[in-house]
Amino acid sequence: MTTAPDPINLADYERLASELLEAGPGGYYNGGAGDENTLRANAAAWDKITLRPRVCVDVGDLSTAVTVLGEQLSMPILVAPTALQRIAHDDGELAMAQAAQAAGTLMVCSTLASASLAEIAAAAPGAQRWLQLYLCRDRSVSNALVDQAVAAGATAIVVTVDAPYAGIRERDLRSGFVVPEQIDMPGVTAALGRSAGLTVEEFFAMVDPTLTWAKLEEFIESAPLPVLVKGIQCGEDARLACDHGVAGIIASNHGGRQLDNVAPTAELLAEVVDAAGGRVEVLVDGGIRRGSDVCAALALGASAVLIGRPMLWGLTVDGAQGAERVLELLRHELEISLALLGVSSPRQLTRAHVAGA
Ligand SMILES: Cc1cc2nc3c(=O)[nH]c(=O)nc-3n(C[C@H](O)[C@H](O)[C@H](O)COP(=O)(O)O)c2cc1C
Repeated sequence: MTTAPDPINLADYERLASELLEAGPGGYYNGGAGDENTLRANAAAWDKITLRPRVCVDVGDLSTAVTVLGEQLSMPILVAPTALQRIAHDDGELAMAQAAQAAGTLMVCSTLASASLAEIAAAAPGAQRWLQLYLCRDRSVSNALVDQAVAAGATAIVVTVDAPYAGIRERDLRSGFVVPEQIDMPGVTAALGRSAGLTVEEFFAMVDPTLTWAKLEEFIESAPLPVLVKGIQCGEDARLACDHGVAGIIASNHGGRQLDNVAPTAELLAEVVDAAGGRVEVLVDGGIRRGSDVCAALALGASAVLIGRPMLWGLTVDGAQGAERVLELLRHELEISLALLGVSSPRQLTRAHVAGA
């Protein structure tokens, strides 16, 4: 009898997860907006980048460790905020936090988490965590979520600014996907002071579509933690974000789930980095599937990357262990890629390591 070989890369986890997930949840996790052009382009654009290695450099002492916005991490790879992780696995966010903790990295917890921040903190007390926040029209709801984050030891807030309304995701429309009744969003429910849960659609109706830079600045000034913005896609907005007091920028198109036909993040990263001009750190996500993609992002000036769907694939396949393995596979690929590029640590990468940059 032969047993299935262990997954050796993220694409293996993608395939295994798609065998396990039914059409509804599979479409929710893997789908994008509209024709999914940006979803596909995100991954394809990293593939198109040509790296420029240097040789005969001493790479005998390699380290992937970095500091990102003051957080000491074992590698420049963070767990992106993704909603409702209990759809992938019963242990959901608790397992994800354990995976991040084991890998020595940071998890960004979604506003729409299917576990409370207190539960997540208790499951992985040694892990670093940030809270991703959608600002609600009723700021007292957002402030209550921030209070939960502070109490759970979160060290930054990530305000997602690319979703005044949810994108149109046709896979969900076709499958008729609805979040199973037993999966709720306890953080939001508690922030609303409700006992019964609410649907994702009801939540998005509460998100503030009137948010402006001035209103964001007001929020930043009153926030007890540093605030990053997630969803910046051009130099003009990167400059405005810096002018309005953000602590960091995440260049992101929400994994192709919001507006279709926008540029893949690999193509807009340099513009955003240049506009930020070293005033704040720039992180990036979208379609990063290989250690060599991480190197390309760092060479273009990102201080770290975030990984979304592959973490959900790992979680689906094998809970905390699967999610941790996804991070360890990426770490190993990153280590080898750094060495083969002729650097011994992530911060030694420069634009000279990317052709045409
Ligand atoms: C199923 C799913 C749920 C997501 N939920 C959120 C969320 O709650 N908040 C948020 O800011 N981004 C959310 N995102 C976007 C991710 O944070 C990230 O930007 C994107 O997944 C990165 O692309 P990748 O999946 O190709 O790595 C979600 C993405 C997916 C796939």
